[in-house]
Amino acid sequence: MEFFIDSADTEAIRELCAYLPIDGVTTNPTIMTKSGKEPERVFDELCEVLTEDQKIIAQVVSADYEGILAEAEKIASIRGGRNVVVKIPVTREGLRAIPVVKGRGASVLATGIYSPDQAFWAAKAGADYLAPYVNRMCSYGDGVGQVVELVQTLARYGMGAKVCAASFKNVDQVHQLLAAGCPAVTVAPDVIRAMVGHPGTAIAMEEFASDWEKAYGRTSL
Ligand code: G3P
Repeated sequence: MEFFIDSADTEAIRELCAYLPIDGVTTNPTIMTKSGKEPERVFDELCEVLTEDQKIIAQVVSADYEGILAEAEKIASIRGGRNVVVKIPVTREGLRAIPVVKGRGASVLATGIYSPDQAFWAAKAGADYLAPYVNRMCSYGDGVGQVVELVQTLARYGMGAKVCAASFKNVDQVHQLLAAGCPAVTVAPDVIRAMVGHPGTAIAMEEFASDWEKAYGRTSL
């Protein structure tokens, strides 16, 4: 499975990549603006922080078909196109553009997915990844359950598209998708840190250190 960071905060990405085997980074236009940097600078920094084995997954901004195609070319040229994926929204224009961008040799992640049916059509259009917005879908119904069902539907048809679940607001949502075998997730840095850190672990480490020092008068083996 693949685990991506959903962020354009290159310092947070650097910190997390230092101790976790992260598979790459996803961004969207809003996430890019939160960096406070020009998009070109963010892409340069991502190329510096990530290895070429880690994917850079960036989104088009234009909504019209021609604009999507032009921006897809621009994104696909980042880092010479190595392990780069173009995010295209599942609008009518986006669905029209997906097979064309694929035909030009780029990998595609279909984004802005709020229903399994939108995801199904993006898979039919040839998208490599499908990004349902799990937490946002929860505003309309059982977001987690619908994404679990989507994973099962794609498997049933043997469709090649991978679900890359996105828009998580808490650890439990991520946990449920991982438990269901979701092949990829993209998660914001604060939720990733919450997945890794547990107060129980910190307490246990303190006990071990304290017991050891009391018994042996030193803090190392
Ligand atoms: O990258 C798309 C998705 O992760 C959006 O997340 O937090 O804005 O719902 P959010």
